[in-house]
Order: sequence, then C-alpha cells, then structure tokens
Amino acid sequence: MTATESSSDLWTEDDAEQYDELAADMFAPGVLDPAVDFLAELAGPGPALEFAVGTGRVAVPLAARGIPVTGIELSAPMAERLRRKLPEDQLPVFVGDMATTTVPGGPFSLVYVVWNSIGNVRTQDEQVEVFRNAARHLAPGGRFVIELWIPGIRRFPPGQAAVPFDVSERHVGFDTYDMTTQQGTSHHYRTAPDGTVTYGASNFRYIWPAECDLMARLAGLTLERRVAGWDGAPFTNDSESHVSVWRKPPGTDQ
Ligand SMILES: C[S@@+](CC[C@H](N)C(=O)[O-])C[C@H]1O[C@@H](n2cnc3c(N)ncnc32)[C@H](O)[C@@H]1O
Repeated sequence: MTATESSSDLWTEDDAEQYDELAADMFAPGVLDPAVDFLAELAGPGPALEFAVGTGRVAVPLAARGIPVTGIELSAPMAERLRRKLPEDQLPVFVGDMATTTVPGGPFSLVYVVWNSIGNVRTQDEQVEVFRNAARHLAPGGRFVIELWIPGIRRFPPGQAAVPFDVSERHVGFDTYDMTTQQGTSHHYRTAPDGTVTYGASNFRYIWPAECDLMARLAGLTLERRVAGWDGAPFTNDSESHVSVWRKPPGTDQ
C-alpha cells in the first residue's frame, strides 16, 4: 500500500499552516517535557523513529537531547513545516505511510507514535501493520511506545450521538462515534477574533488497550509497561488515556 492508498485523512497545506498555533497547548513545556523525558529515557543513545512526526513537536526537542531521530509523516506540508525547524541532516523525515514505509538509519532502540496518531489510520489491518512496521524497525530489546486516548464511549447516555471534549469561548469540539465499526469523527467549530466561525473535522478508528496488546502480539512485541500518561501515573479504570510500552524480545532476529 502506498501513502496515497492509506485510509488516513491527508493533512493539507492549511492544516499544516495552522497546526503549531492551534496545538499551542500541546507545545507547552508542562505537557511536552514529561513526554520527551519519558521517551529519552527509553531511547538511551538511540536512534529513535517517530511515526506521524508532524511538524516535529516531540521529535525536535528529543533530537535536541542528542538522540538521533528520524520521522515518517504522511503529509508533505506537515513534513515541510518540520523542515523549516531543523535541516534534513539533523532530523531526516520520510513522507509516507507509517503502516508501510521503511526508512534507513536503524535498527532503532525506540519507535513511537504520540497524541492518538495511530487512530488516524482507519482500518484494523493497517493498524496491525503499524505495529508490524514498528517491530521491523526495532533492534532486539527495543521499544514501541504509543500515547492514545481511551474512547469516550462510557460518556454516552442512551440515545446521545456526540461527546463534547472542549466547549470554550473560541472552540467547540465534539466526537461522534459509530460503535459497529469503531469509526469516529472529531468535529471542531472555531471562532476567529473577527467572529468568523470555521468548521473542520478529522476521522479516526478508535482502539482499546486490549486490542493494542493483541496487535502488538501479532507483531511479536510484549507489553512491558502501561501508565495513564507521561508523568507515569498509574493506569486505572478511570484513566482517559494511556502510554503503553511494548518490547521486542532481546535476541530476536532483525
Ligand atoms: C495529531 S498530529 C501529531 C503530529 C506530531 N506527532 C505531534 O505530536 O504533534 C497527527 C499526524 O499524523 C499524521 N498521519 C496521519 N496518518 C498517517 C499515516 N498513515 N502515516 C504517517 N503519518 C500519518 C498526520 O499527517 C499528522 O501530521
């Protein structure tokens, strides 16, 4: 399957232009530093590979710690925004599908996909291929890390069709789900300072932690750790997200 055959939405020039500003909260040191600390510790001397690297929110500060980082990104405009931050020789980025693209620079001690991005791949088969592709790029003993939200299905009273996740002055965001297919859509209504309202939507396939573990198992990876977030808080019944670490067994052939 090539990038153009991916089930993922293809992020556009407009998406890329607005990304860092709209995601400003996710660039805040209080959010970003614990993620980079967590990943740096697992990567050791590296190298590390980020799937769906975007504009380099995590990869750029990880590379600044002296860890060689490579990225795979489906959207050329997103990759181009990263390129404006760091040159190719400091952070190589390959435009392609994280389910199928093979990159040089490995084997990697760490492969990771953050901020729910595995959900952008919208079929179960392709999500399994994301795990398999991670495993292919890992050195024996290397780790695959995912940051993923827990689907908000418990918040659906009978008959309700949407779950709001942000209702603020400038943004109304809510998710709709189809529970028969595990497909969902995030809807965003944004109000500009001049009062203009714009609408945007992104599609995803939601996965539970147990399904992730089965995908990891199909890829030959073993669950090593699951916590609720980058700060290492315990994963519980009420957790709304998880950071999971699977390991490629030491001594495995490449
Ligand atoms: C929420 S952004 C995350 C970007 C970055 N990792 C971050 O944390 O800021 C999701 C990214 O996933 C990318 N993406 C979606 N489907 C993909 C695929 N199949 N392969 C590679 N990248 C993909 C999008 O183009 C977008 O850049």
